[in-house]
Amino acid sequence: MTELSQEQISAEIVEAHAAAAAAGPLPIHPLRDFAPYRSSTLRHPTHALVRADPEEIELVSPAFGHSDVAPEESDLTIQHSGEPLGERIIVTGRVLDGEGRPVRGQLIEVWQANSSGRYVHKRDQHPAPLDPNFTGVGRAITGDDGSYRFVTIKPGPYPWKNHRNAWRPAHIHFSLFGSEFTQRLITQMYFPSDPLFALDPIYQSIADPAARQRLIAAYDHDISVPEWAMGYRWDIVLTGGTATWMEPEEGEHA
Ligand SMILES: [Fe+2]
Repeated sequence: MTELSQEQISAEIVEAHAAAAAAGPLPIHPLRDFAPYRSSTLRHPTHALVRADPEEIELVSPAFGHSDVAPEESDLTIQHSGEPLGERIIVTGRVLDGEGRPVRGQLIEVWQANSSGRYVHKRDQHPAPLDPNFTGVGRAITGDDGSYRFVTIKPGPYPWKNHRNAWRPAHIHFSLFGSEFTQRLITQMYFPSDPLFALDPIYQSIADPAARQRLIAAYDHDISVPEWAMGYRWDIVLTGGTATWMEPEEGEHA
């Protein structure tokens, strides 16, 4: 198979966005069958969703950790004997529902590459150094006001093999569990002014520019701590699914 160039992928992105715009109002979620992001064409659902019993799924579903979430787990810079290399940052914000109400007691998990753009994962073998003082995973529970706060290292961009010279913009993966495993949502947070945004088919798989913008954290000087860390603010708004998150389904919990 011929390796595709960035120019070809960028042209496909423009084409896919035009097709999405022609189909009606732009969806705010990623297009599931987004050709420029090659593996999405194999991954997206092709059959109607199957209703599952949330409690049964929780008997076998994966989860990070085997114990309650400890407050230290939100600091990814203190998990080893030394300090990780890179730019120390604080990432904080609130989880809100579609009506602006705080979503409290929410389990948030994050995972990310180190400052060199390398994951601690056997599938990631690109020639950037691992950091013995950085694993890149953390957990937190939102407070009564829906707030969360992580201390970490700014991740580096990393290459992936979607096409020739493909690089992901720096990002942190976020998972929100909801009150049941079947409500789990996964997304990615990005950093302001990344030159790779326009080139990245994963970021661009969201056709709506405003929805893409909402994945970018804001630098907030009031969050930065003098002599210590840069601060970013990123609120997560769970639009369109408020009832799923907040209310029991019909016939349940009668
Ligand atoms: Fe990633």
